[in-house]
Amino acid sequence: MAGRMGFIISKGLKRAMIEILEMLIFLIPPYIANSSPVVLGGGRPLDLNITLGDGERLLGDGKTIQGFAAGVLAGTAAGGIISHLYLLPYFASQQDQFIAAFLLSFGTMAGDAVGSFIKRRMHIASGKQFFLDTIFFLIVALVFVYPVANPGLYDAFNVVFFLALTALLHPLTNFLANRVGLKRVPW
Ligand code: CTP
Ligand code: MG
Repeated sequence: MAGRMGFIISKGLKRAMIEILEMLIFLIPPYIANSSPVVLGGGRPLDLNITLGDGERLLGDGKTIQGFAAGVLAGTAAGGIISHLYLLPYFASQQDQFIAAFLLSFGTMAGDAVGSFIKRRMHIASGKQFFLDTIFFLIVALVFVYPVANPGLYDAFNVVFFLALTALLHPLTNFLANRVGLKRVPW
């Protein structure tokens, strides 16, 4: 009896660990897309220096064309490699998972740019902290991936895990990036 219980518990535990691992793997493309512009960005601003009637830039100097492209490419490439190694339960096929990597990466960079648009409209300077900075990109990425995702991706537990982990990791990674000299500010 005790042996049987132990078997059931350990089987459940193993299942839970696999599911958490799968959620972490899912997050790799959007995380890579979100972080690579810090290293690979620069040059011409995405908003082409346009200033709106409120006197603020459309997006600001923190969003560059090169950074946007680098984020989309790096995230998609990472997801492409992953799709050959492990088929996540959120997608019907390797091909869908690859398309998902692109949608997640593109959604991440689009969300990041929309976040800057909102910040500028609120007269918050480029590089200043804002609560949307931490999870907004992932919310937009999750919306973008909807066309190729299984409905199970949006289980409440998964969504809470994705957002809570990101809210925790984003400040931590930015702090570390600042300490090793990659980022000007620790957020
Ligand atoms: N970056 C980039 N292109 C992008 C996004 C980011 O070149 N599309 C680079 C910029 O050098 C930017 C850095 O990554 O300064 C950090 O990104 P982020 O924190 O998103 O931008 P901020 O500088 O904080 O600007 P904002 O206030 O508009 O978010
Ligand atoms: Mg910032």
